Amino acid sequence: MAQKTVLVADDDAAIRSLLRQVLQDEGYVVQEAATGVEVVDKVKENGPDLVIMDVRMPELDGIEALSRVKATSPKTSVLIMTAFGSSNAAIRAMELGAFDYVTKPFELDKINYTVSKVFEYQDLAAEVEVLRGEISTLVQTERIVGNSPAMQEVYKTVGKVAKSDATVLVTGESGTGKELVAEALHYNSNRRAGPLVKVSCAALPETLLEAELFGHEKGSFTGAMTQRRGRFEMADKGTIFLDEIGEMSLQTQTKLLRVLQDHKIERVGSSLPIKVDLRIIVATNKDLQKQVEQTKFRDDLFYRLNVIHINMPPLRERKEDIPALVEHFLAKHRYSATAQPAAISEEALRRLMEYDWPGNVRELENVVERAVVLSRGQIITSRELPFGDHEGDHDEDGTDELPSEKSFFKKSVAQFEKDLIMKALRDATGNRSKAAEMLGIYRRLLYAKIKEYGLEGYPPKGR
Ligand SMILES: Nc1ncnc2c1ncn2[C@@H]1O[C@H](COP(=O)(O)OP(=O)(O)OP(=O)(O)O)[C@@H](O)[C@H]1O
Ligand SMILES: [Mg+2]
Repeated sequence: MAQKTVLVADDDAAIRSLLRQVLQDEGYVVQEAATGVEVVDKVKENGPDLVIMDVRMPELDGIEALSRVKATSPKTSVLIMTAFGSSNAAIRAMELGAFDYVTKPFELDKINYTVSKVFEYQDLAAEVEVLRGEISTLVQTERIVGNSPAMQEVYKTVGKVAKSDATVLVTGESGTGKELVAEALHYNSNRRAGPLVKVSCAALPETLLEAELFGHEKGSFTGAMTQRRGRFEMADKGTIFLDEIGEMSLQTQTKLLRVLQDHKIERVGSSLPIKVDLRIIVATNKDLQKQVEQTKFRDDLFYRLNVIHINMPPLRERKEDIPALVEHFLAKHRYSATAQPAAISEEALRRLMEYDWPGNVRELENVVERAVVLSRGQIITSRELPFGDHEGDHDEDGTDELPSEKSFFKKSVAQFEKDLIMKALRDATGNRSKAAEMLGIYRRLLYAKIKEYGLEGYPPKGR
């Protein structure tokens, strides 16, 4: 592995050289910076793996430098040093994406330990990215989003078993992404050129499900007017996904067991075995083990299905995935085909993080999609969320917050734009047509921007 590079930033030269010493002893390549501006420049130049910096620095303080570092080099981790007791700066630093913070005076052991954690984490993240890269380059349907440890376990298992023909049992609460995992398994297998056939065992009554799965001969039951191939036959050379397997009747279970054992099926009304070459993936939100105990599910079938088990973690146990999922759904559900993704206020995102999501990712997706519509694709505040009251989502002047989105760039541009518009409105003494002309933009665009920035009453009359 390449040597790790660390940029040490502090206006105190003694601290810099102390850290340099310690880190070089550990085998890292160390650079120094004495000001926030220097930090930003050096990060731009050579994107170090880690920046350790003091919050208090001349020219540009550590917090501001942090947000610029994150904007130019997202892969660079940042450790912040704060004076003991300045928890505000520490909290802000964590919000802006700092890896961790240490309070001064610090023990060198603690620094060493934290730095090793950073690099351990980076290596793990890189490994996951490779795995996910393999998945997302191939998966044609939905991308699976989420980087929590629990989801990383899922990616690892998918990566390991996709190429085998092993039967996979996917369990998890409703809306956790079981079907997405089934798709990922198929599209990353050697069967991806073949069909992925999906059947929900809960959608059909018993006899119809059997005919659907196995096909039937003409006249084999009332309504079977013609001969028909079943889903198992259709899935030949591909994968069959049996969803809600917990709903399957005992009789159909017996037939399924035979498919697993002999790789053969018989159409309803025929005793001619037909060979099928398929991989079986099943999913359920029920506890199959319990169903076995209650003799609602055959134990021999259960063991055959449970060769590889992937359990999807509920969203409430991996809330750290929520921001990335929200971003994903904002991009997926645009207000119109040509619209930019909507943005979300910090307060609204906080609300989403606080909620427990009994309907898991599906519920989150629905909430985001609805909010995009209600906000007309602009900025989602807690008013657009179905969580009742929504105090606190205003600035003191009653306008919406600007999107906090990690992007320092977006924020700066928005602020600049707002300032320009305010100036034009002042210069035109509130005459919007004139202001639009001065700005060289269409009036309609100006109106939209006025609304976006809450400048309806600007400039205040009587001045
Ligand atoms: N990790 C994820 N990343 C992106 N989208 C996701 C993720 N998990 C779920 N989704 C989306 O949420 C919705 C529900 O997912 P899916 O249908 O796979 O859930 P499920 O576990 O099969 O639920 P159910 O048991 O209710 O059928 C889908 O629109 C899916 O695209
Ligand atoms: Mg499903």
